[in-house]
Amino acid sequence: EKGTYPHFMLKEIDEQPFVMRNIINQYQNENGDLKLDDDIRAAMKDADRVYIIACGTSYHAGLVGKQLIENIANIPVESHIASEFVYNMPLLSEKPLFIFISQSGETADSRAVLVEVKKLGHKALTITNVPGSTLSREADYTLNLYAGPEIAVASTKAYTAQIAVLAILAVDSAHAKGIELDFNPLQELAIVANAMEVLCDQKEEMEKIAREFLAVTRNCFFIGRAADYYVCLEAALKLKEISYIQAEGFAGGELKHGTIALIEEGTPVIALATQEHVNLSIRGNVKEVAARGAYTCVISMDGLQEEDDRIVLPKIHPFLTPLVSVLPMQLISYYAALHRDCDVDKPRNLAKSVTVE
Ligand code: M6R
Repeated sequence: EKGTYPHFMLKEIDEQPFVMRNIINQYQNENGDLKLDDDIRAAMKDADRVYIIACGTSYHAGLVGKQLIENIANIPVESHIASEFVYNMPLLSEKPLFIFISQSGETADSRAVLVEVKKLGHKALTITNVPGSTLSREADYTLNLYAGPEIAVASTKAYTAQIAVLAILAVDSAHAKGIELDFNPLQELAIVANAMEVLCDQKEEMEKIAREFLAVTRNCFFIGRAADYYVCLEAALKLKEISYIQAEGFAGGELKHGTIALIEEGTPVIALATQEHVNLSIRGNVKEVAARGAYTCVISMDGLQEEDDRIVLPKIHPFLTPLVSVLPMQLISYYAALHRDCDVDKPRNLAKSVTVE
């Protein structure tokens, strides 16, 4: 039920701090240590390469997951769009492990890959919000997202839950391989939950940004580098599906290879600047588009901010920035859709779970 909320999407955005805390509780044992299925731990340890398969928002979470597993557990990872992978399978490694990410667990494109993978005799893990769903039943192992039902077609809390669970999986796999870490995901996720709360309290500013930048425009660009780029892909998808504004997520450095030709006087460009090692470069990209007339809005992180930044996110661990940087993007999309009189929870032409290929 929506309760006092006008839309499920807004309710589900607001639930994200609670979902983070729920995940912390569910994946922790009585000593406060990580608790994951031994079989999953063994499967990750055995794998020489992980293949993440998903669609839409879940695919975007998979891109972040690739970074997490590679950086934390030192296992090579490829992330693939299910509908492409099934017809264009890459050469597989000797001991692959497949991870299917799906909020609903019913996505037909992902299931088509799972069927092929099972035929080849490979192991599969499904990360889903619906244990008992088709993808969960047909895979060898399941990790639950514990996000509670997601009703709005636009996925929000499932995305952040997927990234949180992938971080936990990455750390558990690192422990299994004897890798020493100074990163405790349960502690860091608690900091994330607090940061999310701070942002949920800044709805007025997000609404203002949506009004200023997106009320009448026909297009919008999101730019970022490294993990911010992955969040920009998700931001663009969110804006497209509920507000019908043509939006693109772009790697900052790739703009000059073509897309910058689209920048005109007043084109909205929303930039993410949460990554220290690329901060100077993304700031350079913002200047480049501003010099060509773009109307720019920078969302940065505490410690990296500059004077004109519109939102400064609370500082969190660099591995987990997407969990926090996506939140203003979700809210800005929500308000943009609202200002344009769109049906926020049930956008045209879309279904909550896509059960046809
Ligand atoms: O249930 P799934 O996670 O498998 O769904 C995948 C996509 O259909 C889904 O994420 C879709 O992109 C969302 N509507 C995006 O908000």
